[in-house]
Parts: sequence; structure tokens; C-alpha cells
Amino acid sequence: MRLTLTNDLTTARLQPHGVCLLLLSAVLVGCDGQQSALNPAGAGAQSIATLFWWMAGGALVIWLVVMGIALYATQAHPEAHGIRSARWLIIGGGIIFPVVVLTGLLIYGLMLMPQLRSAENVALRVDVSGEQWWWRVRYRTDAGEAVELANEIRLPVGERVAFSLTSPDVIHSFWIPSLGGKVDMIPGRVNELVLEPTETGTFRGACAEYCGTSHALMNFAVVVMTREAFDQWLAEQAEPAQQPETELQQVGQQAFLANGCGACHQVRGTAADGTVGPDLTHVGSRLTLAAGTLPADVDAFRRWIGHSSAIKPDVKMPAFGMLPEAQLSAMAHYLKGLE
Ligand code: CUA
Repeated sequence: MRLTLTNDLTTARLQPHGVCLLLLSAVLVGCDGQQSALNPAGAGAQSIATLFWWMAGGALVIWLVVMGIALYATQAHPEAHGIRSARWLIIGGGIIFPVVVLTGLLIYGLMLMPQLRSAENVALRVDVSGEQWWWRVRYRTDAGEAVELANEIRLPVGERVAFSLTSPDVIHSFWIPSLGGKVDMIPGRVNELVLEPTETGTFRGACAEYCGTSHALMNFAVVVMTREAFDQWLAEQAEPAQQPETELQQVGQQAFLANGCGACHQVRGTAADGTVGPDLTHVGSRLTLAAGTLPADVDAFRRWIGHSSAIKPDVKMPAFGMLPEAQLSAMAHYLKGLE
């Protein structure tokens, strides 16, 4: 990938139109993918994207008209117009026209708001708390049982979901650009956000409010799936943790418990019952590690336990780099096995 890009850059340096093409493709790539408000996969995001294009179009029309009049004014002969018609050109083109276009856009934007905020027909409720710097996610099963996980949200497609958003200490902002708008997570308050995913797929959510050193390392995966797949996933998440299967995983579990990890982390079905850090009961099934910072493989678990503060500055979890490499590796295998 990097090689291709380097080649493109070398060629582009030789040909000016190559630079333009590269810039254009870079801009278009930015609008695509898992985390773009202009690539909507939800009802709210669709309205916001449509509003964006209308506003961009309105701004372009105003700019063209005003610049056209300004250019004309510099070229026109001073006696070409009487005072009266010149005044109309200024008032009409410089004031009335922009006010009419902007008022139209404002009314259109205001009309969209009630449907974006409506909490009717909600099929699912999810509590999300912004922590420094990760996301505590809580579902409730039909039996009313709370299921806690972290840094990953799964949703059934085509159903309205209400998020209850809060934070224990500092302000964060919860944003899944592909699905809808963002809402602040404020300590001592619960804000609600209703989203309706319309397409299955994997998207990316992010914190959109500066919240401290590792604000940029606070992301999460959003998986939109069919109702059946979602129900099965939630039932699996509600289960207690899998017991270690291999000898290596058993050694890892012993090391995990002996080093006090359970003081902060919960692994349901074991002695680890801490609530300060993320629930790790099914951490091995997650798509990313450390809130979207690392891939979720054994090597990343080992690196994270040994060097957490180097990977995520000011993280509350201390680095356990003083442990023997064999112990770190066993713990990584144990955690990856918690699927
Ligand atoms: Cu949390 Cu920025």
C-alpha cells in the first residue's frame, strides 16, 4: 500500500495534473469508509448529509452571484448605471439574495430537527458512559439482566435505538458519523441520542470533544447486523466467561488473577470483579483493543499489558512491563481466548 502511494507521489511530482488527481482521490477517500458523515448508513446521517449538500449548494450559489456582481462592478463603466439601478444591484445581490437563500436553508434545517430528535418507536436502549479514554457500554437482555462490555456497539439494522449517554468525570462527545449526529456526554447528566441504522456493516465511532491527553485514542467499533445475528450476539455476551482451554491459557489466567488485574477488570464467572476498567468477559471477541487503538490479536494484548502507558499516554492502567515475557504472553493468550 505504502509502495503504491510512494510511486503515485513520484509520478505526481512530475505531472501537475497527477497532483490534482491525487488530491482529489485523497479528498474522496476521506468521504468514504467507516467514519464519514457523507457516507450515511443511518436515517439521521442521511438527513444530515442531504442538509450538508443543500447548504454547500446554497453557499456555492451565493458565492457565485456575489463574486459575479463584484467582478462586474470592477469592469463596468462608472456611467453604465444610474444611482438607482446601482443601488438595486448592491441591495438585491448583496443583501436580499443571500438572505432569501440562507433563510430557505435555515427553515429546511429546522424542519429536519424534530425527526432527528424523535424518541418514538425505540426498539433498543443502550447505556454508554465516556471514560478516560474508553467507552463503557451496557445492554439489557429481555430478562432485564445487564450486560456490560467496552469499546464496541452492535445494533440490529432498521430498528431505532436510544442511547443514554453520560460520563463520570470529564465531558466527551459520542459520535458515529455514518449513523447520525453527535451528542455530548456530561458528568451528572444523561443525554439521549436516537439513531436508526439502515445498512448492515462495520462502522467507526469516535470521541468528538477534547477530553484529555488520549482523546484521539478513544474510538469504538459499531457493527450493524440482522436482528437474528444481534440476538445471538447479545445472548453470547450475557454468558459468563469461557474457561481457559489450553495449559498456556490456564497459566495466563493464574497470572491475571495473581497480578491483581481483577481489582479493576471484571471477568464474569471468575474471581475478577473490578469495575474501574473495561469488562473483559468477552474481550477476545472484540474487533479492536484499547478503544480502537490496537488490533485485537494476541501480540497486541501482550504489547498492551506490557506497555499500556506508552501506547496510550496517561492511561489509568499501569504498564506491567516488569513481568517476565512468558507471563505476559500467557496472559495475552488467556485474554484473547475470552471470546
Ligand atoms: Cu473522550 Cu475526547
